[in-house]
Amino acid sequence: MTTPAAVHFAGEDLSSLASTAGTIVVLVGADKVLSQAGDHVDGLTGGNLRRVIGADGFKPSQRKTQSITWPSGMVAEKVVLASLGTSPDRASARQAGGAIASALADGQVTICTGGVASHELIAEMICAAVLRLYSFDDYRKATAKDRKARTITVTSDAPEALAAASAPFAALAEGVYFTRDLVNEPANTLNTDEFAARLAAMGEMGLEVEILGEAELEEMGARALLGVGQGSVCESKLVIMKWMGGGDEAPLALVGKGVVFDTGGISLKPASGMEDMTMDMGGAGVVSGVMRTLALRKAKANVVGIVGLVENMPDAAAQRPGDIVTSMKGDTIEIINTDAEGRLVLADALWYTQETFKPSGIIDLATLTGAIIVGLSKSMAGHFCNDEDLNAEYLAACEATGDKSWRMPLDESYHKQIESTFADVKNTGGRNGGSCTAAAFLEKFIKDDMPWIHIDIAGVTTTSSATHLAPKGATGWGVAALDQLVRRRET
Ligand code: BES
Ligand code: MN
Ligand code: ZN
Repeated sequence: MTTPAAVHFAGEDLSSLASTAGTIVVLVGADKVLSQAGDHVDGLTGGNLRRVIGADGFKPSQRKTQSITWPSGMVAEKVVLASLGTSPDRASARQAGGAIASALADGQVTICTGGVASHELIAEMICAAVLRLYSFDDYRKATAKDRKARTITVTSDAPEALAAASAPFAALAEGVYFTRDLVNEPANTLNTDEFAARLAAMGEMGLEVEILGEAELEEMGARALLGVGQGSVCESKLVIMKWMGGGDEAPLALVGKGVVFDTGGISLKPASGMEDMTMDMGGAGVVSGVMRTLALRKAKANVVGIVGLVENMPDAAAQRPGDIVTSMKGDTIEIINTDAEGRLVLADALWYTQETFKPSGIIDLATLTGAIIVGLSKSMAGHFCNDEDLNAEYLAACEATGDKSWRMPLDESYHKQIESTFADVKNTGGRNGGSCTAAAFLEKFIKDDMPWIHIDIAGVTTTSSATHLAPKGATGWGVAALDQLVRRRET
């Protein structure tokens, strides 16, 4: 498992900077004024930093750092000059953290933050740096442990206060790392057993974890979910994670699609790009990461996380196009395309969630449709919501954390597209509005008056090139936004 670099907080001791090894990060303000540590390093190097700042065209930017390697007058290997930009806010603090992370040498890192910005912004910046330092290299011969281990010391005028402001971010980083590991892990390792075992291990953190296998699901009548997994040697499962840190209020429910691999089934996908479908458990990955974060920061909230874990394989026993299955709700579903499997898993997971927990609201996450990528590209998730208050709450959390999402429509017309000849509903609605008909399908399994958001994360679960917060691969999109949504309910 990949664990975030340890971050220590210490007072700002200028006199030790000359003898500090590794990378030293100092900050320059919007007005090109150096922090006290920056000023001290400038003195040690005979004015090196002020030469950088005074150069033609230098502008403090949160997106770029300037590095001085092997500075004279110092033991350090590298001095990195960074900035929170011209109008520091949470977004620019995250950008700065990402830029800092990309500039670091291996080994020891000291980030001097004294007198620069609020603890909240510094904590956000440090969190972003930690997120950007993620690297999934369990499978490489030369592994991370061969590199110089990174330890990060953050110096501040008020290290205790900064440490306190950083604690929830440390929990968030652990949740995001957990999600990214799950998403990056190939399906020959992360099968449904391994996934469930990793969730069961979170029992140690105070989460109550329950695992339902095929026998229990069969008993419950969850044939929609079971049909998807029936061509796989891996047992289909529903895993329930409970965090009851609040009072006696009804919980918020988070529901995730956990298709550990999606071949398409008998409606087999083309070979090209099929390897990407190892990330088709991304929704379940986000739900799991959020639950981990909530437990680690001991959230004062009631939240249940429910994930449907299945593998969609072609096989003699696999589900066929034309099959009609009966869902846990009792509605029958005509399978037109076995590759539209995520909605089948969610149909039963959503129904189970409502019957079992009577939640105050439900948010589901799924790598559900390629069509959402056609519509929105990979810049933002697409969400569908039946409740204006919940929608506003969710968008505010997205805005605060930088996890972008665009609202898509729920409408009666999309239900027309999924009318079946023989069954209550069919599982595809043709090429037009593929994400909207998928959402309409899910809506059939949401009870009247249940506040609900469906988030299609097919485009944002992985990135094909590094961003300011993540290297290539899994992003952990949504862990921050949903943790934030819960956090805002706590205060
Ligand atoms: N897991 C896919 C959707 C997907 C596509 C996720 C690309 C990530 C990247 C989903 O199960 C699927 O196959 N959807 C089909 C639905 C269609 C058969 C109605 C799709 O989008 O083509
Ligand atoms: Mn599919
Ligand atoms: Zn899928």
